[in-house]
Order: sequence, then C-alpha cells, then structure tokens
Amino acid sequence: MNAPWKPGMNGQRDPFHAFVCDDHSYDMLRAVASELGWAPEKVNKGGMRNAVQSLSITASPQILFVDMSESGDPLNDINSLAEVCEPGTVVIAAGQVNDVRLYRDLVASGIQDYLLKPFGADQLRDALTQAQAVFMAPRDAGPERPHCTVAVIGTRGGVGASTLATSLAWLLSEKKKRPTALLDLDVHFGTNALAMDLEPGRGLTDAIENPSRIDGLFIERAMVRASDTLAILSAEAPISQPMLTDGGAFYQLLEEFRLAFECSVIDLPRSMLIQHPHLVSDVNVAVAVTELTLAGARDTIRILSWLKSNAPQARVVVVANRVQPGSPEISRKDFETSIERKVDVIIPFDLRVASQASKLGKTLAETAKGSKVGAGCTAMLNEVLGAAESEEPVAGGKNAAKKGDSLLGKFDLKGMIGSRRKAKTAELED
Ligand SMILES: Nc1ncnc2c1ncn2[C@@H]1O[C@H](COP(=O)(O)OP(=O)(O)OP(=O)(O)O)[C@@H](O)[C@H]1O
Ligand SMILES: [Mg+2]
Repeated sequence: MNAPWKPGMNGQRDPFHAFVCDDHSYDMLRAVASELGWAPEKVNKGGMRNAVQSLSITASPQILFVDMSESGDPLNDINSLAEVCEPGTVVIAAGQVNDVRLYRDLVASGIQDYLLKPFGADQLRDALTQAQAVFMAPRDAGPERPHCTVAVIGTRGGVGASTLATSLAWLLSEKKKRPTALLDLDVHFGTNALAMDLEPGRGLTDAIENPSRIDGLFIERAMVRASDTLAILSAEAPISQPMLTDGGAFYQLLEEFRLAFECSVIDLPRSMLIQHPHLVSDVNVAVAVTELTLAGARDTIRILSWLKSNAPQARVVVVANRVQPGSPEISRKDFETSIERKVDVIIPFDLRVASQASKLGKTLAETAKGSKVGAGCTAMLNEVLGAAESEEPVAGGKNAAKKGDSLLGKFDLKGMIGSRRKAKTAELED
C-alpha cells in the first residue's frame, strides 16, 4: 500500500489491526491474534469503511486484516484504502465473492492474500504467519528498475488526457517516489505546467529549435521542477508560430529522460500520432483516455488498432474518464463489446474536484484524495505499473488488442445508435 509516510510516525507501527464485519470472524481473529502475541483489542468491528477512516488518522500497522463483505465495489474500496495506508503494510482481505478475476485484481492492487468467507482458524493463522514473513523479509534496497515510458493519448479532444497525464506523473513521483519527467507535446496549447501552477519556460521551445543542444546538462537546466522527484518540459508556443520539427528533438529528449529519470510520462496529442508515429516506438505503456460515447468508441478502436501497428511492444491501458454517473452515452458493457477489450479504469465526472484542482493549481489526483476520482486515479497508477512490470508477452497479455486487423469493420455503429434511441424512447415513455 502506498500513501505517503505520516511524519513522526515511523517506529510507532502496531504489529496488527483488523476490521471485520461479523461476530464469528471477530471472535476468531481475537483468538488467533492473541495466539500470535498481538493485542486482541486491535480487532475492530466494521469492515472496509472503518479501516479507511481509522487509517486516515492513525499510523498504519505492519499487518492489516480487512473484511470486504460489505463492500459494494471491492476494487474501488481497495484503492481508497491504498490512499491512506502507508508503504510496507501487508494487507490481507477477506470476503464472500469467489471470483478468480477479483482475486487477481486485488493482488495486482497490492493485497497480499484474500480469504474466502467462511474461513477456518488454521487458514487465518497461515495467512497471518505468511504476512508476518513478508513484512520481516528484507526489502530490495536499490530501485534497479528499468526505465518506464508512458504515453497518454486522448481518443477525442477534451476527454481529460492532459489532466490524467499530469495526475499520473504526480502519482508516480509522489506516491511511488520515482523520479519522473513529464513531457507536454501539446506545444501550442499544452496545460501541464498550468495545471501545476508553473511557468512553462523556454525549455521545450529551445529543444525544438536546437535539437543538437539536447544532453544531460540541457535537461537539468531546461526542465521546470515541480518537486524533488518531478520535472516538466512544456511550452506555450505563440499561436502564429508553426512547429518546425521532424520530431528529432522529441526522440532525443526521450533518450535523455531514460538516462536521467525512472519514468517518463508523455502527454501525446492524438494529432501528433499522424506526423510523428515513431514517438511511440519505445513506449512501454500507452494509456488511451476516452469518454463513453459513440465517437469515443470509434476512435478508441482506431487508436488501439494504430497502436498495434506502430507500438506493438507497448501494453495498453484503457481509461474512461469524465464518466457521468448512471447515464453515460454508451454503457461500459456496450463500449467494451465494441472495442473488443475491457475498459481498465473508470474515472467519474466530478466538477467539484476538477474546479478545485484548477483553483489550487494542483493535479486532479492530488486534489481528489479520498473521493471516487482519487480512487480511479490510483487504479490508473496501479494498472500502468502492473502493465509496465508485467512479464507476459504483449500479444498474449490481457491488454493486447485482439487479432484480426479491422476492428472498425466489426463495429456496429448502427446497432449502438439503435440501442441509444431505444433507451431514449423508453426514457421519454416513462
Ligand atoms: N474526471 C473529471 N471530472 C470532471 N472534469 C474533468 C475530469 N477530468 C478532466 N476534467 C476536465 O475536463 C477538461 C478537459 O481536460 P483536459 O484538458 O485534460 O483534456 P484533454 O483531453 O487534454 O483536452 P485536449 O484535447 O484539449 O488536449 C478540463 O477542464 C478538466 O478539468
Ligand atoms: Mg490535452
């Protein structure tokens, strides 16, 4: 779990906390906790909701047991928990849903184990002993991780691609403590610096005008520091000034980022794909941000297909953003059917959080802490890191576009319009 350390709380971690929903689990947890030498009064009633509330004000324990039986949206709730739970805590979840996909998703979100209810004392003891061993095991000292380049592409204008690119860069740098570079390739109208209340400076303009100057020193001087672990390169080029580049400057910049940072996030306007397809040739993860609309479905299909040809090495994460609660233009299910793959992350439309973010000059992810948008942003972070670290071959991975080139050919536009009309008519008749 990955919330930032609360200052002054190091060394004060309890060995164990539990949050359970029923009396039987409560009694069993108290008994097994005593056996293991832990205080039985650290077993609390109230499941996930209590856990999130309690951990937002106290230091996280070494081992956390949380009952998810009353959780309507387990993955979303785990992401809310991840926001308040400090690094290093080993989490065991329990619940009544027997679904291997849920199990996998929970493990991908950082859960150590999932116990299916009702569970026995032996099973519980084993899981807790295992968690103890994981907590005690020496941590990897060095971040000898390969560099990860993530391109964030909006399938339509205004879907929130830049908002999510800045949020992802902030999450990687703040929550994961990975030195991160953010490259805003919307050279004339980019908003990445603006979103963080920074001046873009001349760095990117200089790089485009003089690609031969790009080296380690240039990167150090030209990038604008948002924090110790996050640097931005962007521009607000005059609207009268066309962008004169063959793309060489961008490749050179990405090359230097690979040496100087652990992660690079590129805010990549879709119009750039046409002129500079090679920009994605070394990308590890492509995040396709879309809206749940007919046009969004059409262009997601086209961009997924384009990525398959131009970035066959990249793992793709599909994020639906600004999703209207209750009534998106196209339901998630229909959208997934038409794009022939799942939507990995849903981020709801939340005007309050979005306007608060622009007022404060902070990223959406930072402003949205504790809300559904915040949980969505954390889910996006986990998906991106999971995709970057996945060892499955891309073609066989769950994120790979399916075989058979012309997805668009299978796209039933008329059917979808038909079903929308039917829904509209039914709405009017009600
Ligand atoms: N989940 C959300 N809920 C509400 N508003 C959002 C959400 N995500 C983004 N927005 C808002 O949507 C608007 C467009 O966002 P943004 O500029 O990031 O989109 P974009 O896809 O980068 O657009 P462009 O095509 O111009 O590059 C902004 O005002 C932003 O604050
Ligand atoms: Mg944008």
